[in-house]
Amino acid sequence: MEAKITILKGDGIGPEVIDQALKCLQAVGNRYNHKFHLKEGLIGAAAIDATGEPFPAETKALCLDADAILFGAIGHPKYDNDPSAKVRPEQGLLAMRKELGLFANLRPVKSYPQLLHKSPLKEEKVIGVDFIVFRELTGGIYFGEPRGRNEAGDKAFDTCVYSKLEIQRIAKLAFEAAQRRAGRLTLVDKANVLATSRLWRETVQNMAQDYPGVTLEYMFVDNAAMQMIQNPSRFDVILTENMFGDIITDEASVITGSMGMLPSASVGANLALYEPIHGSYPEVAGMNKANPMAAILSLAMLLEFSLALSDEARAIEQAVVHCIEQQILTEELVNDEPSTTEEVGEAVAGYLAQSTAVASKSP
Ligand code: IPM
Ligand code: MG
Repeated sequence: MEAKITILKGDGIGPEVIDQALKCLQAVGNRYNHKFHLKEGLIGAAAIDATGEPFPAETKALCLDADAILFGAIGHPKYDNDPSAKVRPEQGLLAMRKELGLFANLRPVKSYPQLLHKSPLKEEKVIGVDFIVFRELTGGIYFGEPRGRNEAGDKAFDTCVYSKLEIQRIAKLAFEAAQRRAGRLTLVDKANVLATSRLWRETVQNMAQDYPGVTLEYMFVDNAAMQMIQNPSRFDVILTENMFGDIITDEASVITGSMGMLPSASVGANLALYEPIHGSYPEVAGMNKANPMAAILSLAMLLEFSLALSDEARAIEQAVVHCIEQQILTEELVNDEPSTTEEVGEAVAGYLAQSTAVASKSP
């Protein structure tokens, strides 16, 4: 097949981890005879430096023209430490999500048996953890109006707004995922306090009758944060609003041993973007130390969900597992002889290129 993929490397460790994913993409193209047409765009601090804008119109046009987008990370310490900065890299990320209509953020959390010892939780709690969070991505307090300061500048406000339609379109995806998985959907909210949460409950409850195989439960977000530590394997599909999803997915990301292993997808009606969830991690940028697995697994999600190339996605996942078994891992995951970012990328791509590796179907 032929496909157009827009590459946004972004800031911090974004470029180096995406470069490893691109080696894997090349290996997939060679082995399965696909032609991938790549175009690169600027985003984040890199785009501000070059153009003054965090999400330039040219980048948006490249995204709209693509079959899928592979994205690294955005963020730079010079903006984090300057609350008065008028233009910030994060604005680029939020504008991109909103303007491309990427309303659902899918963050799968799956434990690898070989990495259980790296979890901050006891190993027996982490065995079998396999859930996915559906985080709403273009609404809620991140975008609601009014927002800002009063005239005197001594009061600030943000507004949380949700419409029924915004809830329904992501809830549909979460119900469908629960149908394909273990059939358990947990709506995480704060319905004992927030009007928006009560609209979420009402809307999701009304949809439940269309999905008879799915058991729907409700959980307050504070309780969910606790249960995720006490008993993470109880979850199957979690559905939640933008800010709660931001917080609990960072919590979820460390359960399995390393945030550096976790991919994500941000999907809209016709387009999706795939990115590692770890962010720009500026402390190690350019040092060839960052874990590229999350970027590589994000590529696997891209191939599966945007291009319907499931065998290719499984082959990438198998190559990743192979490298874990061989302890070809970056420094946060092995104590002795850690591999560099490039070595990990080359090992995964090299394994993918072997004609003996046979992909099997998704379980
Ligand atoms: C994320 C990030 C972003 C968010 C920031 C960088 C704006 O934390 O993708 O989870 O809060 O959505
Ligand atoms: Mg976050």
